[in-house]
Amino acid sequence: MLAPWMNTELPAPARAQLLADAMTVPELAGQLLAGDANNWPTGLPPHELGLLFNCKGAKLARMARELRERHRLRVPVLFALDCAHGHAMSENLGATVFPTPLALGATFDIALVREVGRWTAQEMAATGIRWNFGPNVDIARDLRFGRIEETFGEDPGLVGTLGAAMIEGLQGDPAHPTVLATAKHITGYSESVGGRDSAECALSWRTLRRDHLPPYRHAVRAGVWSVMSGYHAIDGVPCVINRKLLRDELRSQLGFQGFVVSDADNVQWCTLLQALDGTSAEFIVRGIEAGNEVHLAVSGVVEALVAAVNSGRMDVATLRAAAALVLQAKFALGLFEAAAPEPVSQVRTPASFQAAVDAAAASMVLLENRGALPLQPQTRRIALVGTLADDVRQQLGCWTILCRNDDAALELAKQPDAASWTYRAALQAQADRTGCELKYVPACGPTPGVSAQDEEAGIAAAVAAAQDADVVIAIVGDSDHWCGEGRDRADLSLPGRQQALLEALKATGKPLVVVLAVTKPHALPWVQANADAVVCAWSSGMGGGRALADLLWGERDFSGRTPITWPAHVGQLPVNYDRVHGAHFEGFSGGPNQSVPNAPKDPSRDLNIWRIENTRHIDLPADWVHGLWAFGHGLSYARIDLVAAEMLQASWVLGDTPRMQVQLRNSGPRDGSALVQVYVRDVAASVTRPDRRLAAWAHLQVAAGAKVTAELDIHPEALELIDAEGRRVTEPGLFHALVGFSSQVSGLQVLPFEVLSKQRP
Ligand code: NOJ
Repeated sequence: MLAPWMNTELPAPARAQLLADAMTVPELAGQLLAGDANNWPTGLPPHELGLLFNCKGAKLARMARELRERHRLRVPVLFALDCAHGHAMSENLGATVFPTPLALGATFDIALVREVGRWTAQEMAATGIRWNFGPNVDIARDLRFGRIEETFGEDPGLVGTLGAAMIEGLQGDPAHPTVLATAKHITGYSESVGGRDSAECALSWRTLRRDHLPPYRHAVRAGVWSVMSGYHAIDGVPCVINRKLLRDELRSQLGFQGFVVSDADNVQWCTLLQALDGTSAEFIVRGIEAGNEVHLAVSGVVEALVAAVNSGRMDVATLRAAAALVLQAKFALGLFEAAAPEPVSQVRTPASFQAAVDAAAASMVLLENRGALPLQPQTRRIALVGTLADDVRQQLGCWTILCRNDDAALELAKQPDAASWTYRAALQAQADRTGCELKYVPACGPTPGVSAQDEEAGIAAAVAAAQDADVVIAIVGDSDHWCGEGRDRADLSLPGRQQALLEALKATGKPLVVVLAVTKPHALPWVQANADAVVCAWSSGMGGGRALADLLWGERDFSGRTPITWPAHVGQLPVNYDRVHGAHFEGFSGGPNQSVPNAPKDPSRDLNIWRIENTRHIDLPADWVHGLWAFGHGLSYARIDLVAAEMLQASWVLGDTPRMQVQLRNSGPRDGSALVQVYVRDVAASVTRPDRRLAAWAHLQVAAGAKVTAELDIHPEALELIDAEGRRVTEPGLFHALVGFSSQVSGLQVLPFEVLSKQRP
């Protein structure tokens, strides 16, 4: 007879409850353990494993079958992997690697990110992995932090919106997800003290609610099935046992209904690193009570939970409720009905590869252009310089760790598209097509280990090639050695001798195009001032070579915009644009007196010049005060201006969606698109708050010589602040909508509007 929970007519929660009711305490406990296949002992009792990560290929297929057959109730194991930008940790890299999340952030393209999620889920599911430890919805803050490349950028709205898009793409229909997505790492992890991985996060609950929790709000609304808790502590309490965070904020305030998984070995951190008083077994139990249901890669989970129930320390109902959340996910995924996965290694297709090319092209940002780009038809000789022009590991980036350290896997990763895969290969192919001669000189790069003499000789060879060329393309930046988990930096200049290389190339007098193959922003004032063009290519994945060739030759236009502010100097961090009003602000963006020419004057809002000048670091040039390239900045080949912008009404009532109209004109000879950005400023309020925050954006296409009119909405939540009592509220009064093409105040048109508490009679 079919077990009652196998009735597919019943909804997943009811099936999960029936199964949980039939389980013994050790079986329930087993569902709350996610083992690490890399160091998991074999021969474990079958009830001891509900979830397994880092398991791939033939081993996965075998374990899926065996573990299920050996379970008394035939409960399938759910397999997990970190797939942040494609199924990039898959066996042999036979999967599609997309640009890193930070690069995807630069697309500002919700549909594109959703599509990346869809491809990722499709390739994961084909290999039997149905749970993704992503997306990362942390917001970038201190750029020394090693994991900046994993974020979608610095703005909570952008991060939340793109995170939600990734979740939608990964999960598909949340009632029958393709894979489960995980929003991580709740929360504040990315703003730890000094940008050091997993240090204390010294933030107030106001800051957490204002800046770090909103992306989780987006994720929960998108129906995310799981959330991962961070390694760090908030206000002295590690996230994994932080009831206030996991129950009060995540479940009660945001309405999360899935399950929380700890980060790997998180409870050990409570004892070893955070030096809390207690054993790992106690923190396992406290984690579940606090709302962290699943423990990742921890030993002793089943024993600890069984002992806690036997001693009366833990109520079996608590254990059952936690396990039911995991079982519910397994029912929703259809794991009980699915056939055991077959081993597959090649899941990349021409269509998914093309999607990677399109994503890479949309993510690259033209930061400067003094006429060097697009390359002119008469260009005949190109010098391509820098080891990063031919560095598969840099291009793959971020969460490809398992495979990029394996030479055989890397070779396979290059198939079948090797001809167009790396920057060097793709630029060579493009040069051949257009009848150019391309000379490649590796010279030097970020990777340590090359001798100083070799590097000097390399630089000399690069200079010789440059002297012979019409244009120099130098690809410089960092690589996996310089970023990632536990790889924070103190300095953000170009590693190695790359700066010397650029200066030597500049001295040749040849046009210098600098392509930044960087995992995150660096402090590059010399590059900004001296290069004839600067392109940020990030870690662009498998489509990067083709994309860069198209963009440099002008066969595509740039639409990417930086989702993160670039510092001029490492000492000025944090330099995110949405700092609290008054902190190193740009010009005088403050009161209505200065920023709106026709606003009523209020003398009490006049700040004096001394104060303004002293809101910057005294030992940095004044024009560095906001960094080099502002959040939202990016150029294109088209000449598009904002010719008019107006609010559709001067006043709106609380809860309304304020709406505006913008008009763009393309005065150049080339069709193009512009990213219109709308920021909101609450002019005067009861508490401090960011000077401005991104509230809406749109990529608008404008044909050569044409005008385009569009309407943009300001979501009512963009008007909210966290009041002194910690509540999320909108305070009626004067607001500014700031419209333009980047977050830089001087380039934004200011549209005042009022929010009324109720309709005027
Ligand atoms: C630790 C990382 O912090 C987390 O992001 C990741 O998902 C887990 N390890 C599992 O690989």
